[in-house]
Amino acid sequence: MSSEVLLVSAPGKVILHGEHAVVHGKVALAVALNLRTFLRLQPHSNGKVGLNLPNIGVRRAWDVASLQLLDSNFLGHSDGAALTPEHVEKLKEVAGFPEDCMDPERLSVLAFLYLYLSICQGQRWTEENLELINKWAFQGERVIHGNPSGVDNAVSTWGGALRYQQGKISSLKRPPALKILLINTKVPRSTKALVANVRSRLLKFPEIVAPLLTSIDAISLECERVLGEMAAAPTPEHYLVLEELIDMNQHHLNALGVGHASLDQLCRVTTAHGLHSKLTGAGGGGCGITLLRPDLARPEVEAAKRALRDCGFDCWETSIGAPGVSVHTAASLDASVQHALDSL
Ligand code: MEV
Repeated sequence: MSSEVLLVSAPGKVILHGEHAVVHGKVALAVALNLRTFLRLQPHSNGKVGLNLPNIGVRRAWDVASLQLLDSNFLGHSDGAALTPEHVEKLKEVAGFPEDCMDPERLSVLAFLYLYLSICQGQRWTEENLELINKWAFQGERVIHGNPSGVDNAVSTWGGALRYQQGKISSLKRPPALKILLINTKVPRSTKALVANVRSRLLKFPEIVAPLLTSIDAISLECERVLGEMAAAPTPEHYLVLEELIDMNQHHLNALGVGHASLDQLCRVTTAHGLHSKLTGAGGGGCGITLLRPDLARPEVEAAKRALRDCGFDCWETSIGAPGVSVHTAASLDASVQHALDSL
C-alpha cells in the first residue's frame, strides 16, 4: 500500500417502502441519502491494524503478523462466498469474544475482521468492482443480522434509488430529488429479532399477515409508479399520494409488530406539523423518515425539526438518490468532513 491516506465513503440509505416484506420475496424501494459515512484508511508502521468506530465507541487493534498467519486458509474461500456459522465462531476466537456475544459493537468488530481477512486473502479491492463490494457488504450484513434480504448493501453500493426483489435489482430512472428528514429515535433494537418476530407472526396468522405483506408490495409498486411520473413532471398531487402511501405503510408495519412507542411519538409530532412519517428499516425504535413537500416554508421545516429534537431524537435534513460507495482524495472533501476525520 502507498503511504497515502485513502478516503472512502458510502451513502446513508433508507427503505422508502417494503421493509420486512422484502424478506418474504416482496418488492422494496430503497434510496441512497446525501448523508455519508466516511472511512479513513491510514497506513501505519507499528505492525498493527487498528479499527476505530467512534460513533459506537469501538477501538481495537491486532498484530498484522498474527492475522496474516490466519488469512491464507482461515476462511477457506474468497469472492464474497457464503459465510457459515463456523466462520463466525472462528472470528469470535480471533477477537477473543465469548461464544454468545450479540451486542452490536462486538458484531461490528466481527464484521470488520471478516471483511479484513477476506479482502486481504483475495487482494481484490478495485474501484469498479461494485459486484464484489456488494457481495462483501452482504456477508458483513450476515455477520450482524443473520439472514438479510440484501436490499441494504445493494443500495449502499450502487446508490441512487433501487427496486429490489429476491436479489433482482433495477435502478429507478431519474428519481425526483425528494427532500426528507431522517430521524433517529436512538432506541436500540435488533434487526435479527424483529425479522424473526415478523416470521413467527406470519406462521401464526398466515391469513392475516400474508395480505399485509402483499399490500406492502402494492405500496412499493405504486410508489415506484408515482416516482416514475414525477421524473417527467412533479405535481403537488404526487406528493399527496406519496404521503398517503407513507401513512398506510406505517399502519401495516405496526400491524406486523415492528412499531414502537418512540416511532408513534415521531409520527404524532410530525403530524402536528402537517407532515407524514414512517419507520424505515427494521423498526422497533431505530429510524424514521418524514417527507418534506417542496411547498413547505423554511420556518415550518425548522419548527418540525425543533419539535423532534425536543423529543430527544437526532434529526437530519437530506435528499434521496445519492451516489453509491465512492473513493475520495482528501482535497475533494468538504471542510466539515475533513474536520470530523481529523478530530478522530
Ligand atoms: C432492515 O434494514 C430491512 C429489513 O427488511 C431486513 C432486510 O431486508 O434484511 C427489515
